[in-house]
Formats: sequence, structure tokens, C-alpha cells
Amino acid sequence: MRFTSSSFVTLFVCALLAAAHAPSRLSSEELAIRDLASSKCARHVGEMQRRRIEKRAKELMKRDGTSTVTVTTESPYYPEIQNETCILTPDVTTGPYIWPKSQTLRQDMTEDQPGIPLILDIGVIDINTCEPMQNVLVDIWHCNATGSYSSFTKRDPNIPFEELLAMLNLTIGPGLDLHTDNTTFLRGMWPTDEEGMMEMKTIVPGFYVQRAIHVHVQVHQDWVLQSNGTVLTDTTSSTGQVFLGEELSEYLMSLEPYSSHTEIERTTNDVDDIYQGEARNGWFPELAVVPIDGEDYANGIVGYITVGVNATS
Ligand SMILES: *[C@@H]1O[C@H](CO)[C@@H](O)[C@H](O)[C@H]1NC(C)=O
Ligand SMILES: *[C@@H]1O[C@H](CO)[C@@H](O)[C@H](O)[C@H]1NC(C)=O
Ligand SMILES: *[C@@H]1O[C@H](CO)[C@@H](O)[C@H](O)[C@H]1NC(C)=O
Ligand SMILES: *[C@@H]1O[C@H](CO)[C@@H](O)[C@H](O)[C@H]1NC(C)=O
Ligand SMILES: *[C@@H]1O[C@H](CO)[C@@H](O)[C@H](O)[C@H]1NC(C)=O
Repeated sequence: MRFTSSSFVTLFVCALLAAAHAPSRLSSEELAIRDLASSKCARHVGEMQRRRIEKRAKELMKRDGTSTVTVTTESPYYPEIQNETCILTPDVTTGPYIWPKSQTLRQDMTEDQPGIPLILDIGVIDINTCEPMQNVLVDIWHCNATGSYSSFTKRDPNIPFEELLAMLNLTIGPGLDLHTDNTTFLRGMWPTDEEGMMEMKTIVPGFYVQRAIHVHVQVHQDWVLQSNGTVLTDTTSSTGQVFLGEELSEYLMSLEPYSSHTEIERTTNDVDDIYQGEARNGWFPELAVVPIDGEDYANGIVGYITVGVNATS
């Protein structure tokens, strides 16, 4: 672990980096950088992802000697390496439900939240070299099966954001603080290993008003573990959002406990501004998914994504 306060970290993550309700528009210059990086590293992203999928398939085979497990790279659920799975985009804004104080160093952030198990397999590459980045801290948070974020549990996930702010007599901007408590469920962080990857166990998120189903991912290049167990991170980092495929979402949301969220209509990817901003030039902000048991996503999912970081800017 290291901490270099002078180093400036610009992050390119697999998603448009935008405030949840005020998506920023990328400049044409930023888009050009992103497209260049994406075409340069596409093969590497594909290869890194293939290695991770193969490694996991081998581990599953090992654990289950007689093996009924059929998770392989040839899995019918995910037949091709999707090099486009990652969007590289520089931006620094975060949504209103970021709450660093509740981010905990752990590899299972489920706590007591019910839902379909989701193992996130996240790879981080340096877009200058297209090489895996070791020991960068990956920070993850998302809402629970019925749309609530920990640390914000008293905020109603069904009230449109503008209405919520009006009710609270608040305006959007720096310093907006909507947190209500110290709960930490579905927030976690863990460093990448020597192969530039990390895993986080969680559940499939549900949805809240005005947004498609998404997971926030933030990467800190510089971080240090303090003696009391808290983590100090570089303040310059960026946030991305990762989505589920629409068909998969439709299936999963028909199951309990997700299906009990009937107060609002789910926003689909095709009308989510942030999703739309990311799905361009072949880049694809959706998790590549495999069912954990090789059969049914309802029993659990492994989701792969690769994020790119500009480590030298
Ligand atoms: C995708 O990655 C594979 C390696 O896994 C590579 O053979 C292929 O050429 C890549 N496709 C593109 C469009 O870069
Ligand atoms: C999600 O969190 C909220 C707030 O803590 C809670 O009321 C709700 O029951 C949770 N959803 C599920 C499915 O447990
Ligand atoms: C809302 O804030 C404004 C400006 O700070 C203040 O004048 C007004 O009285 C507040 N309204 C309520 C309902 O708190
Ligand atoms: C959260 O915890 C801090 C101390 O760790 C405490 O001062 C604060 O009152 C708590 N906030 C809430 C809303 O419970
Ligand atoms: C942990 O230690 C850091 C650095 O000494 C301090 O700033 C922070 O408040 C401490 N946190 C807790 C929860 O004790």
C-alpha cells in the first residue's frame, strides 16, 4: 500500500461518470481520448477478462470435484469475449449517495440484505500501457433490493429527486448532504491483486426512482490503511456506473424480494441518461454475466467488468 499525495489520479471507468441526477456532458476532447484508449486497449481488455473467466471456471471445477458446474468460457450464457464491456471515460462527479465514511474494507458487503447473490469480478488496467494495475483500491456501492442506500435509509427511494430536494429545501451542488444514518450495507472496497483484479460479494441491486439498475464503482490509485482500520484515499478519483442487461433485469426484478417494489415503474436502460451517455462507439456499460451454477441467474451471478485508469496524467 502506498500513498503519494502529489500524484494526480484521473480515472477512466466503465461508465459515464456523472452525478446520478445531473449527468455531465463529456467534451469532444474527452470523448476523443476515450475512443483512442478504447481502441488501443480493446484486445487487452478482452484477454484480461477471458483469463479471469477461465480462472474462475477452473476454481469452480476444483471445488466441486464431480462437477455439475458448467461455467466455462464456452458458457452459452456468455459465448463471446466482449472487449467492449468497458467504457473509458474521464470525469469526476459522483452521485448524491456517495458516503465515504460508510465504505468498509471487505470482500462481502451484503450484510443482512436479501437479494440474488452477485459476485463482482473487477479488473483494472492502465490505459497508457493496457497493463493490469495492482493494488489500486476499488470502491463499490449500490442500493438494496428495494432501492434504498445505506447511510441514506430514511430517504424514500420512490420520490423523484427534484421533489425530494424541494421538500428538504435544498439545491443540488457541492456540499449537498442527504445522509440520514451510519448504516453500511452494500458498500465495500478492496484492492486489486497482482493480476489487477478484485472480487466483491454483494447482491443484485434493485432500483429507485428515475434511474436504471446500476452499481457505482470508484477507483483510488493512492490509498493507505490506517492503524485503526480506516482507509485514507486520494481525494482525486472518479466514479463510474455499471449496468445490468435489460432482459436480465426484467427477469431478476420479477423475483422476490425485487418484485415487492411495486410503488414505482423501473427506469429501463434505454431511457436512462447515464446509460445512454456511455453506450457509444461500441463501448458497453453492462456487466458480462454468468450464472453461478451454470444454469439459472436466479441462483446467483458472476459479473465481470474491466475499468481503465489513466495512471500518469
Ligand atoms: C477482442 O479480444 C480478443 C482476445 O481475447 C481478440 O482476439 C480480438 O481481436 C479482440 N477484438 C477486438 C475488436 O479488438
Ligand atoms: C432496503 O432498505 C430499506 C431501508 O433500510 C429497508 O426499509 C428495506 O426493507 C430494505 N429492502 C429489503 C428488500 O430488505
Ligand atoms: C428555504 O430556504 C430559504 C433560503 O434559505 C428560506 O428563505 C426559506 O424560509 C426556507 N423554507 C423553508 C420551508 O424552510
Ligand atoms: C454516526 O456516527 C457518528 C460517530 O461515529 C456520530 O457522531 C453520529 O451522530 C452518527 N450519525 C447518525 C445519524 O447516527
Ligand atoms: C482513524 O484514524 C484516523 C487517523 O489517525 C483518524 O483521522 C480517524 O478519525 C480515525 N477513525 C476512527 C473511526 O477512529
